Amino acid sequence: MNKVVVVTGASGGIGAELARQLGARGATVVLAARRRDRLDALAREIGAHALAVVTDVTRKSDVEQLARTAIERFGRIDVWVNNAGRGISCSVADLGDEELDAMWSINMKSVVHGIQAVLPHFKARNAGQIINVSTALSKAPGAPVRVAYAAVKAAVNLLTASLRVELKTTHPGIHVTLLVPGLVATEFGINSLGSGNVDNRTLTGAQPVEDAARAIVEVIEAPRSEVYTSARVAEGVARYLREPDVVESELAARRH
Ligand SMILES: NC(=O)c1ccc[n+]([C@@H]2O[C@H](COP(=O)([O-])OP(=O)(O)OC[C@H]3O[C@@H](n4cnc5c(N)ncnc54)[C@H](OP(=O)(O)O)[C@@H]3O)[C@@H](O)[C@H]2O)c1
Repeated sequence: MNKVVVVTGASGGIGAELARQLGARGATVVLAARRRDRLDALAREIGAHALAVVTDVTRKSDVEQLARTAIERFGRIDVWVNNAGRGISCSVADLGDEELDAMWSINMKSVVHGIQAVLPHFKARNAGQIINVSTALSKAPGAPVRVAYAAVKAAVNLLTASLRVELKTTHPGIHVTLLVPGLVATEFGINSLGSGNVDNRTLTGAQPVEDAARAIVEVIEAPRSEVYTSARVAEGVARYLREPDVVESELAARRH
């Protein structure tokens, strides 16, 4: 694959696995996250066509620097994956201001920073792809304790669709994709804010991280507007949209 791909949240989980799979296909990957040691180790593993750039995606200046560094080093960016994200376990009744701000910063502002950093470059070429990683929890209320995370990701969904519509007429060469995973076996649970978090990797039914990352590789190879990483999860969401009352009753019964 002859593409230059920026991946945020590349120091672990879906982002790291995506970078590995892209690197194995010959893509050039720019790895962004806060943990330098993990990024450097992954860049060494992938080889000369990988570059680690320590980035805090909640800081606009960091993300602008990430885009500049990628373009200076490789001449262009073809794909930008806004994958960095963080969950929280907290009922809506107990959410504090700081927690709400943290959810908005890491899951929403980070996406806006990424879009704003790369869009002028994509517009100048009328080419490129932005992939925003959401969650099935933003489509159906599967885990009430993750409400703040899910609601912010729902905002990302609408932002993504709106950007796609805006660019369709002015810059039809730019693709905008929403990527929707269900539960994936990563460190996401243990990295989440709040108490009582479990390790996703121990949960039955969690999708292997390799499969979730492969869905992103596939949507880079053949761009589409919205993709679920699992057909089972897509069907669960579709069922919720068809019969929300039934599904909500089932969910409530399961919690008691
Ligand atoms: N795993 C799931 O079940 C699941 C389900 C649906 C959607 N998702 C979404 O998938 C994406 C990836 O999650 P994951 O499962 O791979 O989780 P993960 O294993 O916890 O990885 C999260 C990544 O985001 C990075 N990150 C967090 N805060 C950051 C910041 N301020 N600046 C830069 N990077 C930051 C982390 O790196 P550093 O800590 O080194 O910065 C890490 O590389 C997220 O958007 C998540 O919402 C996950």
